[in-house]
Amino acid sequence: MARQRPLTVAGRPATLGEDGGVTSSPEQPSDASASPHALVAELLAVAEQVARAAGRLVQEGRPDVVGVAATKSSAVDVVTAMDLASEDLVRRTLARLRPDDAILGEEGGHVAGTSGVTWVVDPIDGTVNYLYGLPAYAVSVAAVVGEPTPATWTVLAGCVHAPAAGETWTAGRGTGAYLDGRRLAVTPAPSLDRCLLGTGFGYVAERRRAQARVLAALLPQVRDVRRIGAAAIDLCQVATGRLDLYYERGLQPWDLAAAALVVTEAGGAVSGLRGRAAGPDMTVAGAPERVAQLVAMLEELDADAPDAPVADIG
Ligand code: IPD
Repeated sequence: MARQRPLTVAGRPATLGEDGGVTSSPEQPSDASASPHALVAELLAVAEQVARAAGRLVQEGRPDVVGVAATKSSAVDVVTAMDLASEDLVRRTLARLRPDDAILGEEGGHVAGTSGVTWVVDPIDGTVNYLYGLPAYAVSVAAVVGEPTPATWTVLAGCVHAPAAGETWTAGRGTGAYLDGRRLAVTPAPSLDRCLLGTGFGYVAERRRAQARVLAALLPQVRDVRRIGAAAIDLCQVATGRLDLYYERGLQPWDLAAAALVVTEAGGAVSGLRGRAAGPDMTVAGAPERVAQLVAMLEELDADAPDAPVADIG
């Protein structure tokens, strides 16, 4: 991927500290609009504005019968006309509000910018729920710096807006996570056998076989399992205390950029396996001690092993 251009804050050079804090260049005059918190606040306001606008479009514009516009990884991995319209609205709005920023969207790919900030956008997370008229779908909008992949980025601000549920999660780096203005704190972890565990599945048969094997091993060891159908909402439910734990293989940057910040700003952990960051190989979220336990179990189960071709399984 191309090298990011230098980060600027309010038009001035800025640096990203090792702790992820953003500092404007010391030789530049500083003002409130250039402080790290001001940048986070500005990006968060934009994320929420954009997510709410797209959410309105998606919810109010939903026809009684939603058609499939295209398919992606398999015949059941669908794109609706509204996924495309929502992302188009997000891109046009961001181009007006933050013209120098890059955008990485689920449907439209990567468009380069010059500011160092990249918007990572899922125009409808939970597309299959949207297709069927189930309310668990959301628009997810996050602002990141660094290469826009989970292993290298620093997420500064994010909003997950679920219009049909009437719920909006927001988080700013270092400034907390909120559901509709109420500050969130991940609930203390119960023992694993009392944990309500969320998960999700990919769209390809080989991946689902592997995910079913892992799930079959975990299910007897937890309170119960939920498959809500929208990864961003799953993660936000962990931050809200409605799920104790969540894991999924196959998440893309737009599935988790905003929601992972909601979890960590609520005091939770979001991790991959074998010391790696959360990402496509595995994402595990929850209270830190329980995440460590589930990570160990998933490693033991080789939950990140290459998928076997269906024909080889018999
Ligand atoms: C999907 C949902 C689903 C998860 C899949 C994602 P999409 O996103 O988040 O819950 O299990 O891995 O791809 O396709 O609805 O944007």
